Amino acid sequence: DAPRLQAIRGAFLDFIEDPFYAPEAESVRYVPDGLLVIESGIIKAFGPYNDLESTYGHIPVTAYLGRLITPGFIDTHIHYPQTGMMAAYGEQLLQWLSQYTFPTEKRFQDKAYAKEVAEFFLDQLLSHGTTTALVFATVFPQSVEAFFEAAEARHLCMIAGKVMMDRHAPNLSSAIRPRPSYTDTKALIQTWHKRGRLRYAVTPRFAATSSEAQLQRARQLLQEFPDVYLHTHLSENQEEVAWIAELFPQSKGYLDVYDQAGLVTDRFCLSHGVQLSEAEFQRLSQAQSAIAFCPTSNLFLGSGLFKLEQAKSPSHPVKLGLGTDVGAGTSFSMLQTTNEAYKVAQLRRQSLSPFQALFLATLGGARALSLDGHLGSFDQGKDADFIVLDPQATPLLAFRNTAAVPRSLEALADQVFSLVILGDDRAVQATYVLGQLVHERY
Ligand code: GUN
Ligand code: ZN
Repeated sequence: DAPRLQAIRGAFLDFIEDPFYAPEAESVRYVPDGLLVIESGIIKAFGPYNDLESTYGHIPVTAYLGRLITPGFIDTHIHYPQTGMMAAYGEQLLQWLSQYTFPTEKRFQDKAYAKEVAEFFLDQLLSHGTTTALVFATVFPQSVEAFFEAAEARHLCMIAGKVMMDRHAPNLSSAIRPRPSYTDTKALIQTWHKRGRLRYAVTPRFAATSSEAQLQRARQLLQEFPDVYLHTHLSENQEEVAWIAELFPQSKGYLDVYDQAGLVTDRFCLSHGVQLSEAEFQRLSQAQSAIAFCPTSNLFLGSGLFKLEQAKSPSHPVKLGLGTDVGAGTSFSMLQTTNEAYKVAQLRRQSLSPFQALFLATLGGARALSLDGHLGSFDQGKDADFIVLDPQATPLLAFRNTAAVPRSLEALADQVFSLVILGDDRAVQATYVLGQLVHERY
């Protein structure tokens, strides 16, 4: 096959540095009239249209006038089996898990059902502009297979894993008792890890549902397969933290449970961390671990307000992404997630700038998942996963925003903030994966 060359023209926004640490002028890359040249799904060239026109003027161009093109969103924590149980009424974490979550996840023993949900879930991600996610499946290996098969058919870069649980899982105990998680997980890693764009995450649900022996098995898997991820929950809810202290009386704290098991490394990706102490943030920084801040979930379950300034502290920075945490999260939209992240910061009298919010949803997420060599910006050689945002997508956005393409960073920041606060799937006009259009809103 001859290499497939194509180009996209429009206003592009991505990041070359972290806007939490570098000034906007040095971290934000804005090209009001840009050209993205793609060859066989990979970015071949990117820059101002005028600079690239002479070299690439002859190839087919799709132009998006009055739109804003950004890298695809990266959701650093989400549960595909919980898609159908969003908006489960009335409970906080531990009761919510036993009343709604475990019964829901039990249905994923049925692979055909799992496949159906996985396809719907991926449709939802793409229509909301999310092109990569770190995903919980369930304890059943067939639920992981169903997910990876669906993601592979769509050429998506996805990270997922089988939930490891061997205790305190009411409604699931009878289904999981005879199944050794270690053996099942190892087989899944051998089949799926680094198959095309797929990656595997060893996924103990949280310390309460794994015995120490099972956490040791998770560590063994990380040693056998050093580049798989470790994906879990940590310090979400006060009652949960107290329970972990009872279950692991010899630990110094919640993070220490994972640390003593040898799980806290640069592959460790945890969700929430709402209740973390400063010493725990320091330990995560030192280990180069990553946190998924899941504001819609933290508010929905009443878990608390994430300490953004601790995670992004210049003296002990922690890799940070945003997670929707569907189904405790209340939206698939990373824009709705930035909206709630901003409000969490407000309640703590902290700030989250429009560019910082968008960074967390793109390059920040890619860095948190160690995928920034391939994803998260328009650098040459990266995968062409990107989205086209419409700053006038709804009557309200069209009323608020002018049709003019922003010419200054200040005007751009205002437009981005309107999307960060008011945007959702309606603002996502198109989603591209490896240069192919996979979703378009009419
Ligand atoms: N902690 C353990 N399991 C879960 C889960 O499914 N969702 C959330 N939000 N927290 C958890
Ligand atoms: Zn979760």
